[in-house]
Amino acid sequence: MTKKRVLSGMRPTGPLHLGHLHGVLKNWLKLQEEYQCFYFVADWHALTTEYENPKKIPAFSRELLLEWLAVGLDPERSVLFVQSAIKEHAELYLLFAMFTPVSWLERNPTYKDMIRELKQKDLATYGFLGYPVLQAADILIYRAEKVPVGVDQLPHLELTREIARRFNYLYEKELFPLPEPILAEVPKIPGTDGRKMSKSFGNAIFLNDDEETVRQKIQTMVTDVKRPRKSDPGDPENRCVAFQLMKLYFSPEELEEIVSACKAAQLGCVACKKKLADKVVEGLRPLWERRRALEEKPGLFEEIVNAGNEKARKFARETLEQAKETLFGSKWY
Ligand code: TRP
Repeated sequence: MTKKRVLSGMRPTGPLHLGHLHGVLKNWLKLQEEYQCFYFVADWHALTTEYENPKKIPAFSRELLLEWLAVGLDPERSVLFVQSAIKEHAELYLLFAMFTPVSWLERNPTYKDMIRELKQKDLATYGFLGYPVLQAADILIYRAEKVPVGVDQLPHLELTREIARRFNYLYEKELFPLPEPILAEVPKIPGTDGRKMSKSFGNAIFLNDDEETVRQKIQTMVTDVKRPRKSDPGDPENRCVAFQLMKLYFSPEELEEIVSACKAAQLGCVACKKKLADKVVEGLRPLWERRRALEEKPGLFEEIVNAGNEKARKFARETLEQAKETLFGSKWY
């Protein structure tokens, strides 16, 4: 029996942090056990918003792939690839563009939100409006049935289904499946200042930070501000940012112990955050080791990425050929 296909992508806009690890990559790793997974670097999508600074994109793309491998995504089982290496995405995108009504794109809530949020950038471009059409091509060219994404991506996925439906209807063939989202439960990952962890807030612990940096950053995490001395009883559940992160790293029993020691004013914040740092470092160490092993072998990384691109291309080509044959009614360029 062939496995169902999963596809997802990330835009290469910066280094990965703990938020990506717990929010996205752990889920990708799990899916790898059950599905045939395609994971790709959406560098053309990054270009829709970074077209003024495109020179950063290759390094960020490389960084993403390195971290995916460091986390343990297995290139033998999952197809890891780069969007812009597979020109077939662009051709399918062009074909989809022909029958996608502009009104579908203009009413897309993610589109409207992003224009509003990124108002320092001029996103009134043709490319940005077409963002979800390109995304539909990414997904449908692998005839993926499942797409793990965050809630912000649901409108894009809905559009992908509408595009698939419209193609199948117009050209009278059920070529494309209607892909479903996989909405994983995403834990809230606080940055060191308590806001959502994000590169742009400067509060992130990056996966490739070294041990010393991770420990330092964790010591700067905000704890209960109403507890200036160890001898004051704390309220970790309601007032401590570090505790929010601890929930991801400690068992319920360990957490209970920490809570009661904090409330009883027996455990100080410095010592407590040291425990957290130990856990985070322990969690990151295998990533650091895998990454180092990879970087020590010259050419290996390129080999892995080329092989992933090759597999993706083969698959994408097949779908594209079928799509064109369906559309034109015969074999045509
Ligand atoms: N739009 C996605 C994001 O910003 C990235 C992406 C591009 C994607 N193509 C995709 C995700 C296809 C899933 C499937 O996160």
